[in-house]
Amino acid sequence: MQYTNALTETPDGFESTFTVNVLANHLFVRLLQDRFAAPARIVITASDTHFGDFKHNMGMVPGPAWKSPDVLARTGAFPEPHTVVAGRTAYSTSKLAAIYLVHEYARRLPAGIDAVAYNPGFVPGTGLARNADPVSRFAMRRILPVMTLTPFATSRDAAGRYLADVVLGTPQAPTGSYVDRSRVDRSSEESYDPRREGELWDAVERFTAA
Ligand SMILES: NC(=O)c1ccc[n+]([C@@H]2O[C@H](COP(=O)([O-])OP(=O)(O)OC[C@H]3O[C@@H](n4cnc5c(N)ncnc54)[C@H](OP(=O)(O)O)[C@@H]3O)[C@@H](O)[C@H]2O)c1
Repeated sequence: MQYTNALTETPDGFESTFTVNVLANHLFVRLLQDRFAAPARIVITASDTHFGDFKHNMGMVPGPAWKSPDVLARTGAFPEPHTVVAGRTAYSTSKLAAIYLVHEYARRLPAGIDAVAYNPGFVPGTGLARNADPVSRFAMRRILPVMTLTPFATSRDAAGRYLADVVLGTPQAPTGSYVDRSRVDRSSEESYDPRREGELWDAVERFTAA
């Protein structure tokens, strides 16, 4: 989910981007953990935006701005939190967090229960811009899909096919890896950080405790 500010709050008092993109995944993994039977693969959807450079998102989304998870989980974590820039920073930061948790799942889940991050690339035409201004929504729906004719974007059909392939295990991908569309690749240098990964695990465990 992507918001146009960093002030949207869930009924539990958490910031909504962090809740949907990070805490919800974690809650699912933990609630289902007793039912996983090896071989199994958990796939979490990440995003190019976690790189934070022009090459990976053509300047459309600001890069992640990591902070303590206790700050990230609450509204107002980023400067000028009422702005689109803050909302999209929350988005790219949540995707970095999702990769951190995939690394932590890879360390903690039993052998044969794999966790993989999946990046579909830029997929215009989805509802991701549903909270954006009317011009951005129109562009996302009607104009940007033309980009799927170029290597800079992925069509919704292709993104779905890649996702199905990752889920079904077609690309060989070791646990903890990052699948960029159809092949294993390295995520950003910043996304390999065992200290942040452990700190995030502790925090999301606390936030999702019954
Ligand atoms: N589009 C892109 O360029 C792009 C690029 C990289 C990664 N991604 C990632 O791909 C995934 C799918 O995004 P999309 O582009 O397909 O956007 P989308 O069309 O807006 O889909 C988002 C999905 O999340 C669900 N959702 C939204 N708010 C929710 C909430 N509060 N609680 C529970 N579920 C909620 C929506 O359910 P409802 O429809 O029922 O509301 C919908 O199924 C996301 O993880 C996104 O970050 C997208």
